[in-house]
Amino acid sequence: MKKKRIVSGMRPTGKLHLGHLHGALLNWKKLQEEFDCFYFIADWHALTSEYAHPDIIGESTYEIVIDWMSMGLDPERSTFFVQSDLVEHAELHLIFSMITPLPWLERNPTYKEQLQELSQKNVSTYGFLGYPVLQAADILMYKANGVPVGEDQAPHVELTREIARRFNHLYGPVFPEPDTLLTPTSKLLGLDRRKMSKSYGNSILLSEADDEIDRKVSRMITDPQRARKDDPGDPDVCNVFSFHEIYTDADTVKRIDGECRAAEIGCVACKKLMAENLKKGLAPIKEKRKELEADMARVRDIVADGNARARAIAKETMNEVRRAIKIVN
Ligand code: TRP
Ligand code: SF4
Repeated sequence: MKKKRIVSGMRPTGKLHLGHLHGALLNWKKLQEEFDCFYFIADWHALTSEYAHPDIIGESTYEIVIDWMSMGLDPERSTFFVQSDLVEHAELHLIFSMITPLPWLERNPTYKEQLQELSQKNVSTYGFLGYPVLQAADILMYKANGVPVGEDQAPHVELTREIARRFNHLYGPVFPEPDTLLTPTSKLLGLDRRKMSKSYGNSILLSEADDEIDRKVSRMITDPQRARKDDPGDPDVCNVFSFHEIYTDADTVKRIDGECRAAEIGCVACKKLMAENLKKGLAPIKEKRKELEADMARVRDIVADGNARARAIAKETMNEVRRAIKIVN
């Protein structure tokens, strides 16, 4: 039986952190067992907000592919590609832009939110408004059945479905409507208890050096109500505890839970223990990264291979699209 296909992308704006790992990548890894996966570097999407300082985009493209492979995404099972290597995406984006009513884009909640959040970047551009149109091109190009994304991206998949429907209605059935495969939100927060994000400077990288992990964990905010060591703490609201739940063995987690509530363990000791376990947990990922860094030719081959696989499909879709809109030469 043919596997169903899924497509998802990541914007290359630096090396990946634990928010990416637990909020997306581990899910992507699991999905490899069931689906024909297309995972790509959305560098044009990064350009919509980073256009004034695009260096980071090119610099982090391969870093991210290395992060992917280090944590267990498998290029034998999944197709990795780079959006900007497939100009077909730009062509499909252009064609979709003809049929996408402006109000669909203007009322998009993610757009409205980002306009405010990125206020220092001036994203009142044509390209930024059209962000979901480009995303629809990424997804529909491969006639994906599903799109694994977090909550914040769900409106974009909904828009993709609307664009597919409108295209099919105008020109005949070409595109399936993809399902949203919602990734459960990760409990892990950044060092300061806000969402982990590079722009907040509160993240821990997959490739973080051990001494940096020590330093970062030591400045993590714990239960904000717990001012002194003899105050009882509440693990349920403590981000350090959320890390323990992932990186520490179940018996120890249970012990910490009790000791924290009874004020028998202090946050400094608790963090030290967590940092040790986090370092152990990330060690295999960092080991794999080292191997890959020593063989960049192989990494480049993998991306070139993935690009070629993606291109074969993209060319077919574009032929179909050109025939559907009756602009064929
Ligand atoms: N917009 C997505 C994000 O910021 C990245 C992305 C671009 C994407 N194209 C996509 C995700 C297609 C899924 C499918 O996370
Ligand atoms: Fe959090 Fe551990 Fe401090 Fe409890 S002891 S508040 S779990 S860091």
